[in-house]
Amino acid sequence: MDTSTNDSNAAGTREASSARLIFGDLWEFDPAPESADPRIEPGYDLFIGGNNVPPKSGEHFDSINPANETVVSSIPEAGRADVDDAFQAADKAYRTVWSRMPGRERGKYLFRIARLLQDRAREFAVAETIDGGKPIRESRDFDLPMAAAHFFYHAGWADKLVYAAPGSTPQPHGVVGQIIPWNFPLLMLAWKVAPALAAGNCVVLKPAETTSITALKFAEILREAELPDGVVNIVTGGGETGALVARHPLARKVAFTGSTEVGKMLMRELAGTGKKLTLELGGKAANIVFEDAPIDQAVEGIINGIFFNQGHVCCAGSRLLVQESVSDRIVEKLKHRLAVLRVGDPLDKNTDIGAINSERQLGKIHELVRSGVLEGATLYQPACDLPETGFFFPPTLFTGVSQSHRIAREEIFGPVLSVLTFRTVDEAVEKANNTAYGLSAGVWTDKGSRILKMSTALKAGVVWANTFNKFDPASPFGGYKESGFGREGGLQGLLDYLNLDP
Ligand code: NAI
Ligand code: MG
Repeated sequence: MDTSTNDSNAAGTREASSARLIFGDLWEFDPAPESADPRIEPGYDLFIGGNNVPPKSGEHFDSINPANETVVSSIPEAGRADVDDAFQAADKAYRTVWSRMPGRERGKYLFRIARLLQDRAREFAVAETIDGGKPIRESRDFDLPMAAAHFFYHAGWADKLVYAAPGSTPQPHGVVGQIIPWNFPLLMLAWKVAPALAAGNCVVLKPAETTSITALKFAEILREAELPDGVVNIVTGGGETGALVARHPLARKVAFTGSTEVGKMLMRELAGTGKKLTLELGGKAANIVFEDAPIDQAVEGIINGIFFNQGHVCCAGSRLLVQESVSDRIVEKLKHRLAVLRVGDPLDKNTDIGAINSERQLGKIHELVRSGVLEGATLYQPACDLPETGFFFPPTLFTGVSQSHRIAREEIFGPVLSVLTFRTVDEAVEKANNTAYGLSAGVWTDKGSRILKMSTALKAGVVWANTFNKFDPASPFGGYKESGFGREGGLQGLLDYLNLDP
């Protein structure tokens, strides 16, 4: 980070806040640490064919807590033979058990998994926060309830697949390979595993290397649910392991969530293989605020849109487009709001912004923020004491951003908001769509007709109106352009796990 810029800004903020921050100075929060036991093992095995299996590769790597850089657990690195074993187990389970089981029986397993996740929600939330750095408030109130909700929702589909595609006889693909990222580890698992199982597929899942623990704990839930052996297999490891999963000849479908770069590689690699592919990649969402918007509500939506999960969100509202007439007012309010965001210990229930998931991601954020300063945008960061160990980044706002700046084009995947302005509706649409991505967008206005117009004009898979980051398992999620293709959630997401003309 350019510290000189940072310091001058910090001084400015302190001055600004002394008038207002009586609250912050006198009402210091007591720490409110979460104390539930995450029940994390010091080391894990792979989960293959219903068993805990040490990796044939003999390799392990450490998963650390990004908030204090301590080792949390030792994670197995699955090699070629391990991934092959997982696919063989999945294939056997598919042929001998899962494909023969009536949907109503499959549904019972999904209901059971959902309930077990609810029973152990607090434990899983703490584990998620320790391994990945997200605030406990978010893992507790968002990740875990949503993960369970996805299993409940898809449980209901398992015996109703004929209604999902009237006139056809939908069939599962067989074994699917699934590769997930580190920003919502358990939730992305649920998004992938629940529809796959409901549709009758068996699974080989590869979690992200920095956040494998909740997936390995999920194996405990599968065992408790007595899911037949081999229906879900979990192979941990890095990108190499992911590539082995995608390339395996038994993978009839590959579902990937992660960077656009790896998504493109997978697309090239799978071309011509006959494998189905769905990709959920990056984003650079426009959050568009018109002058007639409910301003205070919009400010909260902007804050949530970019600082939720440290901005490690593919649909984050990272480009704020404000109508010129209200731009100064909104930026002023945003600065006040940034100054009271609490950055720090993810396990503290008062924390708003937790740890950046990895040192590598922190490096990427620093690099892009530096580029913003060098390219001439104006940086604002409130005075805030970051913890001395661990990976942290202050909430950051850039004004004076132009469309050509890297911070307006590239996914930062961090707590950094770029503010641009517009005058007319057409200009807002033009600027919002001027991106290689198309995952989500937000519109803030008092006019229903404008919402309808904007939601058609914006080339984004999800358009939120007068809200942001709202999710429901019944609602499909997915992108346009370089944000990928295929949907997750809802009927559309389910159909991506079914073969309609077998
Ligand atoms: P990544 O795309 O490398 O990682 C996502 C998953 O893909 C992980 O499980 C990883 O092990 C696996 N993977 C990596 N290389 C692979 C390969 N060749 N074949 C198969 N699987 C492979 O993303 P990374 O490097 O962790 O993050 C880089 C950037 O990507 C972030 O800064 C962010 O901009 C974006 N990203 C977007 C996500 C989203 O939700 N759309 C999630 C994670 C990252
Ligand atoms: Mg970790």
